[in-house]
Amino acid sequence: MNAALPFRDLSPDAPRVRVTLDGAPLDLPDGANLAAALLAAGVGSFRATPVSGAPRGPFCMMGACFDCLIEVDGVTRQACMMQVGAGLTLSRPMGKVAE
Ligand code: FES
Repeated sequence: MNAALPFRDLSPDAPRVRVTLDGAPLDLPDGANLAAALLAAGVGSFRATPVSGAPRGPFCMMGACFDCLIEVDGVTRQACMMQVGAGLTLSRPMGKVAE
């Protein structure tokens, strides 16, 4: 996690639920926007592009750019279009696709 990101949790006392991110436990605010919750938790990169391997993270926060793609329970989803829920299994596709 990157504690240097300029995002902060606006509801630090909100009830938390446990999810996993790349196999590590992470407690996020229940019902919060998933992309915003991950950014506030210090997660800046949600995936790497399959061509160059460049890191990507949320940009528009309204479902237009697709830079927030992340795997949720094995399905690639837009994190900015989802809510945090207990037990989500999140993984970040990282790295270039072999040629
Ligand atoms: S941040 Fe742009 S689609 Fe999610």
